[in-house]
Amino acid sequence: MIKVAPSILSANFANLQPDVELVEKAGADALHIDVMDGQFVPNLSFGMSTVAAIRPITSLTLDCHLMIVEPERFVAQFAQAGADLIGVHVESTHHIYHVLQLIRQAGAKAEVVVNPGTPLSLIEGLLPLVDQVLIMTVNPGFGGQHFLTPMVDKVRALAQLKQQHGYQFDIEVDGGINDQTVKQVYEAGATVAVAGSYVYGSADPAQRIQDLKVATN
Ligand code: DX5
Ligand code: ZN
Repeated sequence: MIKVAPSILSANFANLQPDVELVEKAGADALHIDVMDGQFVPNLSFGMSTVAAIRPITSLTLDCHLMIVEPERFVAQFAQAGADLIGVHVESTHHIYHVLQLIRQAGAKAEVVVNPGTPLSLIEGLLPLVDQVLIMTVNPGFGGQHFLTPMVDKVRALAQLKQQHGYQFDIEVDGGINDQTVKQVYEAGATVAVAGSYVYGSADPAQRIQDLKVATN
């Protein structure tokens, strides 16, 4: 059964608390928080003050996906705000190794993220340093986009590397996840699925979380 991390990018920004509590009660495994700077991706969203505001209202793992240039400027502040896991794009910095070290030094779990066009070879040397790898299954920046099917093979290739080397990291996928696409990525080796519009775009988000779990049972 896959772990589910609802993305609050599709939640009600005017009143996040009920949307957070609802998915926690429904058995979500983490809360995915998309941080965008209008430069690395063509959109703006949350910052660390939102993370700090959410921290006291939930015991869910706060999974912060940083889509910002030079994330080394901010990772310590996100950890301080209460992020449990911090994801940084390999494309967003000249110093990815250093950023991953900074995240762990700050007491959070470290995740490296790859865009659809970025080959796995770019992150192979980083795999011993991470707690989770995020394979983007859409181009980052917006919720509600279509799943990119070629990314299933990328998940499978990463799962093979993980097995060959005996790594323990989780493999997360993000973008276009629903009860059909989740089966493909789970079969390929994904262990965590982010879902934004599929969960929060529904009249019954709790049911949608269960649907993702049942589809991978
Ligand atoms: C996109 C974000 C996603 C987004 C996914 O840049 O990283 O987390 O919320 O949304 P859906 O599940 O609607 O594709
Ligand atoms: Zn995301």
